[in-house]
Amino acid sequence: MEERQQDSLERQDFAWLVIMSLLFFALVAAALWSEYATAWRPFQTRFKRDLAQAGRLEDARKFHSGIKQIWNPELGLVDRCVTCHLSYEWGGILPASLPQPLTPHPALPFMQHHPFERFGCTTCHAGQGWATTARGAHLGGAGWEEPMLSKRLAASCGVGEDELIQMRCNFCHRRDSSTQGMDDINLAKKLFKKKKCIICHTVEGQGGHTAPDLTFEGDKNPELFDFSHVSGPKTAFNWHVQHLIDAGKVSPGTAMPDFHFPPEQARALALLILSWRRIDYPPQYIPAPVAPPAAQPVSSSQPSPFH
Ligand code: HEC
Ligand code: HEC
Ligand code: HEC
Ligand code: HEC
Repeated sequence: MEERQQDSLERQDFAWLVIMSLLFFALVAAALWSEYATAWRPFQTRFKRDLAQAGRLEDARKFHSGIKQIWNPELGLVDRCVTCHLSYEWGGILPASLPQPLTPHPALPFMQHHPFERFGCTTCHAGQGWATTARGAHLGGAGWEEPMLSKRLAASCGVGEDELIQMRCNFCHRRDSSTQGMDDINLAKKLFKKKKCIICHTVEGQGGHTAPDLTFEGDKNPELFDFSHVSGPKTAFNWHVQHLIDAGKVSPGTAMPDFHFPPEQARALALLILSWRRIDYPPQYIPAPVAPPAAQPVSSSQPSPFH
């Protein structure tokens, strides 16, 4: 009697052991699979194949799958965009016709001044650098305030993606009077001067005091704007565009003139205003201001013997 009870207890223990082991193996297998079946793996497989097809067999062989990143503590960036956007530096070797995310980076004339290994990607594009899913990287998670400056976001503002990016170019190029590749911001800087906005506004310590200081206007929380006379989305960008076109309508009773800027000029000025933010990049990332051509001495066309 006692022996039979003992027997059945042992069988029960054995059954439990089997169940627990199976569960354990299932969990390990699930963990391994989720590790393997990441969003980026198919792009890496494809990249390796593209390299081989382009005749770069050695590079294809040396390529190891895994999370890739550009890390630059000086700018505080960890950009894993390159886990998927693998061909960014392979322009000229891999065809420009490859579909995203494997299209080589457009060879824009100013890119040589901003090496990828120093500037990463989010410096110009924004987005969430450390994310390893397209959604996380491009749109960001809940509470993320700096979505990537995508085509879609640009279209919703009535500008092109390259124009939207100029706002971030100006984080560093703020003090240039004009910069190649920043046509809209250049136009806005010209208008800001021509319309004498600093008669009333202060910017970086210069100007009048009868209107808000605009030095860090880009940091202003959109919730602080009054949207009761603004149509469309409740974004700072939209508020500025409409205010620049018709200040009296957006801020009834304002002393600011109604400039009636054409929409493209108002959008350019809004991008300039939004670029005025408190940026804590180290000084070596802020280009020395380029003197306007007329101000340069004639002899400067001669190369300096000391350089
Ligand atoms: C998990 C893979 C993945 C990661 C990580 C990723 N991307 Fe992408 N990206 C894609 C894919 C796929 C596309 C093409 C489809 C699409 O537009 O979503 C794309 C498209 C783009 C485009 C062109 C489309 C547009 O709307 O302008 C840009 C620019 C871009 N990515 C930038 C970035 C940047 C910057 C990062 C890092 C913050 C990043 N991506 C991280 C997969 C990725
Ligand atoms: C110095 C600024 C700068 C840096 C740094 C930079 N980009 Fe770009 N990128 C641009 C500009 C400007 C464009 C052109 C946008 C246009 O013409 O619509 C562009 C275009 C692109 C496009 C094509 C977008 C499209 O709509 O077809 C992708 C994808 C992209 N960049 C990804 C990256 C990735 C990934 C990195 C990091 C390895 C990076 N970029 C670094 C400025 C930059
Ligand atoms: C993080 C700061 C930073 C960002 C963002 C940035 N730049 Fe620059 N840029 C620099 C620095 C620093 C230099 C000077 C590099 C050197 O000495 O060669 C430079 C040089 C240049 C030059 C050549 C010299 C000059 O001043 O005319 C051009 C043109 C230029 N950048 C355009 C752009 C454009 C267009 C963008 C946006 C797509 C951009 N930059 C974004 C920091 C930045
Ligand atoms: C005659 C004085 C005057 C001139 C000139 C003027 N402004 Fe204003 N501006 C104001 C006043 C007053 C306000 C605050 C009330 C309001 O919202 O309009 C203001 C508000 C603003 C704001 C919103 C600031 C905030 O956070 O509330 C911006 C941005 C702005 N002006 C940009 C410009 C630009 C760009 C120009 C030149 C094209 C310009 N202003 C010319 C008087 C002026």
